Amino acid sequence: MERASLPPTVAYEAGAVRIVDQRELPHRLVVLELHTCDDVSRAIRDMAIRGAPAIGCAAALGLALAAKAACALPPAESAAAVRKAADLLKAARPTAVNLFWAVDRVLGAIGDRTGPEAANAAEAEAVAMLEEDVRVNHAIGRHGLSVLSPGCAVLTHCNAGALATVGYGTALGVVRAGYEAGVVRHVYADETRPRLQGMQLTAWELSLDGIPVTVIVDGAAAWLMRQRKIDVVIVGADRVASNGDAANKIGTYALAIVARKHNVPFYVAAPTSTIDMNLPSGDDIPIEERSEAEVTHIDRIRLAPEGVHAWNPAFDVTPAELITGLITECGVVAAKPAALAQLHRERSRQHRGRA
Ligand code: MRU
Repeated sequence: MERASLPPTVAYEAGAVRIVDQRELPHRLVVLELHTCDDVSRAIRDMAIRGAPAIGCAAALGLALAAKAACALPPAESAAAVRKAADLLKAARPTAVNLFWAVDRVLGAIGDRTGPEAANAAEAEAVAMLEEDVRVNHAIGRHGLSVLSPGCAVLTHCNAGALATVGYGTALGVVRAGYEAGVVRHVYADETRPRLQGMQLTAWELSLDGIPVTVIVDGAAAWLMRQRKIDVVIVGADRVASNGDAANKIGTYALAIVARKHNVPFYVAAPTSTIDMNLPSGDDIPIEERSEAEVTHIDRIRLAPEGVHAWNPAFDVTPAELITGLITECGVVAAKPAALAQLHRERSRQHRGRA
């Protein structure tokens, strides 16, 4: 494919949700137009759109579409339709808390309103969330500079980049800021079996920006660290529990163990919307299991022997003790209950101040 420039991963234009279809990358840059809440929920489930912040923003817009479609209904029916749409969106994927956070935030903006007033409030909130996401990611990038050493090589897993957010990325936001500042020298991207987000998405978006990237198979990370080729590991997260345990793409936990063994710092970059203060620990995070075919097949070709089953958890949980720190839009904090409680108190105070 020709060198392309990356449009926003999620956008709202002329009453439609526009998403970059991640199933087509890196071969084709396809932008899908979604006109209904059902379309959005299906796109999240089928991973046309993926990555915690991106699915949160898409779901917020999906709910705005539902509120608009319910505009002409009598008030009680319009409110019921919006509630039903919110439930549908929340059922699309279970692990990323941003999805639930975003839907609840739009419901909060709607409040007791119904009809066109509800639709306008939902649309305004969802659109504001898109702009906020990019701002937050730039702040994560700026704070992340403090964990980078001059000339460092970064290892990342899955895709926590522009394609997993509205733009710029979380873990890759730190990489971008570090590259712009001249401190990141090289990025290694785990290919990330089974869906290959590292090879197909991370490697693609970094090369688009001219950032040097090398893909490795997931099993090569330990050997690479053994050779002292990695200075820091930075990954994203789908949900961080209040004790600092973090759920992210399957394979992240193994990477954290390997990083500890080789004394390589291991950071999780995530917006505060990914922290779920309602969950005491990572044991309580629901882990999505996806179809066996994602493991047994590649490009619809079966590679596993007929009759053999596969187990396909989409995420795992890295215990807080293996996490050097969390890079958030408010700064780098320890993955510890007291630090997260303090961050939560400060965030709540700021929100109350703004309301
Ligand atoms: O299954 P995916 O591709 O949605 O999983 C994505 C990840 O695990 C990302 O690392 C996470 O959502 C953070 S994105 C900024």
